[in-house]
Amino acid sequence: MKTETLFNQNRKISDKFALSKSIVVYPGDCLDLLRCVPDESLQLVVTSPPYNIGKEYEKKLHLDLYLQQQAQVIKECVRTLSPQGSICWQVGNYVDRGAIIPLDTALYPIFSSLGLRMRNRIIWHFEHGLHCSRRFSGRYETIIWFTKSDDYVFNLDPVRIPQKYPGKKYFKGPKAGQYSCNPLGKNPGDLWVIPNVKSNHVEKTEHPCQFPVELIERLVLSFTNVGDWVLDPFLGTGTTVIASIRHGRRGVGAETVPKYIELARERISQEIDGELRTRPMGRPVYNPVEAGNSLTVVPWDKNDSEQMKLLEKNAKYGKGS
Ligand SMILES: C[S@@+](CC[C@H](N)C(=O)[O-])C[C@H]1O[C@@H](n2cnc3c(N)ncnc32)[C@H](O)[C@@H]1O
Repeated sequence: MKTETLFNQNRKISDKFALSKSIVVYPGDCLDLLRCVPDESLQLVVTSPPYNIGKEYEKKLHLDLYLQQQAQVIKECVRTLSPQGSICWQVGNYVDRGAIIPLDTALYPIFSSLGLRMRNRIIWHFEHGLHCSRRFSGRYETIIWFTKSDDYVFNLDPVRIPQKYPGKKYFKGPKAGQYSCNPLGKNPGDLWVIPNVKSNHVEKTEHPCQFPVELIERLVLSFTNVGDWVLDPFLGTGTTVIASIRHGRRGVGAETVPKYIELARERISQEIDGELRTRPMGRPVYNPVEAGNSLTVVPWDKNDSEQMKLLEKNAKYGKGS
C-alpha cells in the first residue's frame, strides 16, 4: 500500500508513539516520549524549546543548567533522526538583568559536538513584540538548521517564492531572449519575514508563544517527503503536527501542560476536519497604508510631524519640503 493511502486511513490522534501511527500528541515529558522512538526513524525534528525567560510553563534556571537539560533532549532527538534527516531549533535570547545572550550561539556547541553540520541560521523577522527602553526592541529570532550527514533531504521547489523581476530576460549571449530566472520562483533565502502570532493573528490562542503554521510548513516541505515522521519535543499548541499532516507527513510531539495538550488536540482535530483557520503560506505581510487603515497617519503629510522632527531637529517640514 502506498504511504499516502496508508496515511489517509490513519488520521486519528494517538497519545502513544508507534511507527504504525500517523498523529501522536504525547501528554508528558519529551524525554519519556523520545525513549519510545526507535533509532533513525524520524526525518525532521523542529521545535521552539522553553527559552528559560520565566514564562508560565518554565522555571528560570541558571543558564548552564538550562543548557545541560537542552543537551539531554538534543542528544535523544539526534539518536532518533534518520541519516538524511534535519533538526531545527528555533530560539531567541536569554535575558540576564537586561543583558542578552543569544541562545543559538549558546546551543551551537551542543549540536556540533554531536557531529551535526549547520546548513543555515535562518533569521525570522517579525514586527511585533516587547518595546524596550534601554536597548533596541528585538524583532527577530533565529532557526538554526543542522543535518546529520552531507546526504540530506532538501526540496527547494515547493518553497520557492515569486521572483522580483519575473519577466527579466538575457539580453545577449547564447541565451538572449530567454527568461533569466527560474520560472518556479526564487530561493526564499535565509531571512524570513513572517508575522508572529500576536493578538490580532488569526491563529492566536491563549499560549504565549505559538509558531505561525506557515513558518513550519516551509521547513516541513523543504526537509521531508510525504509519509515521513516529524517530531516536536516541545509541542505547545500542536503547530508542528498541524503543518506536517497538512502536507501528508506524520507528526508527533510532547507537551506537559494539560491546557496546551487540550489546545493541541483541538487544533489538530480542526486541521483534520479542514476547519483550522491559518494565515496562508506566502501571503505578503500586511500593508496598513494599502489597506486604508484610518489609524495610519503618514508622518510627512502632517506639518507638525514629531517623527520627522526627530530626523532633523532644526528643519521645518511641510508638504513638498
Ligand atoms: C515555546 S513553547 C512551544 C510552542 C509551540 N511551538 C507552538 O507552536 O505552540 C514550549 C512548550 O514546551 C512545553 N514544555 C516545557 N517543558 C517540556 C517538557 N519537558 N516536555 C514537553 N513539553 C515541555 C511548554 O509547556 C510549552 O508549551
